[in-house]
Amino acid sequence: MSKAVGYSEYGGPEVLEVIEVPEPHAGDGEVRVAVRAAGLNPFDFKVRRGGYIPNHQLPSLQGAEFAGVIDEVGAGVTGWSVGDEVLGWIGRGAQAEYVVVPASQIAAKPAGLDWAVAAGIGLVANTARRSVDSLELGPDDTVLVTAAAGGVGIVTVQFAKATGATVVGTASEANHEFLRGLGVIPVAYGDIPGGTSELERLRAAVPGDYTAALDTIGGNAIRIALALGIPPERINTVADRGAIDELGVNGVGGGKKTSAELAEFARQAADGELVIPIRGTYQLSDVVAAFEDAETGHGLGKVVLLVP
Ligand SMILES: NC(=O)c1ccc[n+]([C@@H]2O[C@H](COP(=O)([O-])OP(=O)(O)OC[C@H]3O[C@@H](n4cnc5c(N)ncnc54)[C@H](OP(=O)(O)O)[C@@H]3O)[C@@H](O)[C@H]2O)c1
Repeated sequence: MSKAVGYSEYGGPEVLEVIEVPEPHAGDGEVRVAVRAAGLNPFDFKVRRGGYIPNHQLPSLQGAEFAGVIDEVGAGVTGWSVGDEVLGWIGRGAQAEYVVVPASQIAAKPAGLDWAVAAGIGLVANTARRSVDSLELGPDDTVLVTAAAGGVGIVTVQFAKATGATVVGTASEANHEFLRGLGVIPVAYGDIPGGTSELERLRAAVPGDYTAALDTIGGNAIRIALALGIPPERINTVADRGAIDELGVNGVGGGKKTSAELAEFARQAADGELVIPIRGTYQLSDVVAAFEDAETGHGLGKVVLLVP
């Protein structure tokens, strides 16, 4: 038997348990990875709260991304060996001692890359890559990135900066210095009673007009982007399905993942071209506390579980 994070009823972090599951083994075309770290994502808790994806069954395992060491190689797999350090993705079940995945769902972990960063980079970087590419940004653009300090936001601002665009990011004051260090113009979100509104502060942050917005929080943030005069077709959200129909904005997000792109994200992080702040690491046994942290919806970067 081996350990995995699971739940048998929908709810908050308190329904999570570290359970014993039959130890999985690599079949044809698969590898087994002894997990060293697993990233946490809002997808985990949106599904766990119930009603987010159709046909989801209980009991369920949890976790979509991992980093670890290959300890079994299935028949027909070439190019991978026991002992290789890798990162990868899985539908669910990454928050566990072992994962078994097709060999097409892993990439080599650069030797110098921290385990927590390796485990936390894949989902957010893939989402940010698709989102940024969808608007074909360039040096003439001034782009608003909402929730710029979050897991997806912090990668989005870096990919957007790499296009040459001027990047303005909303975040709480505590995260402004970090964003400035990435070349982002930070703006506090929310309306200050008796003070300025988010819209006013965003208008004051840059001399000219905004030309695009990359949203990672949804709701009011998209309405503010529209109020700034950004056309809906130049707004992409990864966080608000309702706004796609209701407001006519785009909804290009994650979805397709490739091992080659994952390897490139890992290389960029190892070489310091891409910064992934880790806001907290927790042991697998502390999974409830880890999700209590992640589900505050505040903080800089990623929360990651360390295994064992
Ligand atoms: N479509 C896809 O493929 C896809 C893939 C991945 C994620 N997503 C979605 O993208 C969203 C973001 O995911 P994530 O991993 O980045 O989440 P996250 O790391 O939990 O985001 C937290 C961030 O949100 C910020 N924030 C909270 N309230 C805000 C507000 N009113 N205005 C601006 N910023 C605010 C916080 O900033 P402060 O700490 O500064 O308060 C914090 O940095 C989620 O809804 C997730 O489900 C979609």
